[in-house]
Amino acid sequence: MTAKTGTYYVTTPIYYASGDLHIGHAYSTVAADALARFNRLRGRSTFFLTGADEHGQKVERQAQAAGKDPQTYVDEVVAQIVQLWERLNISYDDFLRTTEPRHTRVVQKIFERFLSQGDVYKSEYEGWYCTPCETFWLERQLVAGRCPNPECDREVQLLKEESYFLRLSKYAERLLEHIANYPDFIQPASRRNEMVNFVSQGLEDVCVTRTTFRWGIPVPWDGKHVVYVWVDALSNYISALGYLSDEPGGDERFRTFWPADVHIVGKEIMRFHAIIWPIMLMALGLPLPERVFGHGWLTGADGGKMSKSKGNVVDPMVLADKYGVDAVRYFLLRDMPFGPDGRYSEAALIDRTNVDLANDLGNLLNRTLTMVEKYCGGVVPEPRPDAADRAMERLLGEVVPAVEKAMDELRIPVALETIWRLPGLGNRYIEDNAPWNLAKDPASRARLDTVLYNLLETLRATAALLVPFLPETAVRIWGQLGLEADPRRIAWADLARWGQSTPGTRTRKGPALFPRIDPAVALGSEE
Ligand code: MSP
Repeated sequence: MTAKTGTYYVTTPIYYASGDLHIGHAYSTVAADALARFNRLRGRSTFFLTGADEHGQKVERQAQAAGKDPQTYVDEVVAQIVQLWERLNISYDDFLRTTEPRHTRVVQKIFERFLSQGDVYKSEYEGWYCTPCETFWLERQLVAGRCPNPECDREVQLLKEESYFLRLSKYAERLLEHIANYPDFIQPASRRNEMVNFVSQGLEDVCVTRTTFRWGIPVPWDGKHVVYVWVDALSNYISALGYLSDEPGGDERFRTFWPADVHIVGKEIMRFHAIIWPIMLMALGLPLPERVFGHGWLTGADGGKMSKSKGNVVDPMVLADKYGVDAVRYFLLRDMPFGPDGRYSEAALIDRTNVDLANDLGNLLNRTLTMVEKYCGGVVPEPRPDAADRAMERLLGEVVPAVEKAMDELRIPVALETIWRLPGLGNRYIEDNAPWNLAKDPASRARLDTVLYNLLETLRATAALLVPFLPETAVRIWGQLGLEADPRRIAWADLARWGQSTPGTRTRKGPALFPRIDPAVALGSEE
């Protein structure tokens, strides 16, 4: 594996352009966005890719059901996806659509290369196919004759068609070796074990073309076949970077950013990312991604996966309109364990918003600025060395490296919990120092100014640390503190340096960051 320095490449799965995205889909993307923003803030040259998976039988059928030709259908769905990411402040650098020529050409070249190397060969497929999962199954894998994916359990169809196959079997040993040599490759560890067990049982070559429908990338030398949608989709991670691009210098991004630092994927698509994708890369002679992270599902109240067919899906647009984008982002990033499944509930979202955002963070800002207005004429006071204490400064010194470590380990909830130590201690610091008492005694002026300065500094640093997670809130806090430069551009090394608030700066107290939500009112209609 080549070690890249100073760059960071993170991807989301590309979403099927086959229907509305729900809060579960938003989860993969918001998590990847936090990682991308964090690495940008840390000064790494970052590339964040997302996109849409537009081919395949499922999309073709859905288009038919909607009475539209597939291209018109996917254009409409993609417009909605893009709108959703805008609403959720997703800072992607590129959005790849698998119907774009820059992608289809590359998939065809990859396929030609596989054929010329003998990694792809023609034979006949006879077996079962689950269209909603776009997955081939062997007879013995079916459960009671149905799709073995426990969340799907739908009817499968028997396929018997001439097909091309990818020689997975040839690479199984090498893949196992790679997994053993790079313990971080598949995360979390529970998913790595699942994958090792699966591969150890022996890999069968996988069918990688279809002939019974048309909505896919044609196999260049054999036009009646279209490329299997997963081989098409997985290639997006390199086609978007310009791999095998025809343009002169078109592969510059590829040379800069490949291999990916992390592919964020849901657990049910781990097998494609931890087996088929690495084998495709091995066949192309390319380095493998550093990490594939399989997160759990956001489940409905019954603990089952959210899905349209169950009617328990939650629309992230509706939630963002009701509670604000950052309340939704915070809930997803803080409340959902990043690995195991997590149960979604609107009541839990309200609780997080009230406790962490309105109370801990919002109140600290509000109380501090109120006191700065009352005792310092709305101007950042001058801290006095003779009245100094280092409680808040010391905490910041601990928090910054701990956040860094948590993010490197992809433990996003831990990173947020760590950041929240700052407002936590900040609120206690107010109680302990009781600025209202200091204000009564002119002899305590130096101490009063210092305490308020320390609180403003804590808020400055908290806002900067929140940029990756709650970008809007970070900017709002920044503005109320009267700070000028954009917190998103702040250098990581400066963030942790204590004492950057400039005395004399005018603060601009604004409305409450997160007005308290009354659960009875918010949930009333659903009770
Ligand atoms: N198109 C494929 C991915 C191809 S990547 C080369 C696909 N698309 S999807 O739209 O069905 O799902 C995309 C992602 O959304 C997956 O990572 C999936 O796990 C995630 N989620 C969909 N529902 C989810 C939940 N309820 N909870 C968490 N994530 C879920 O698969």
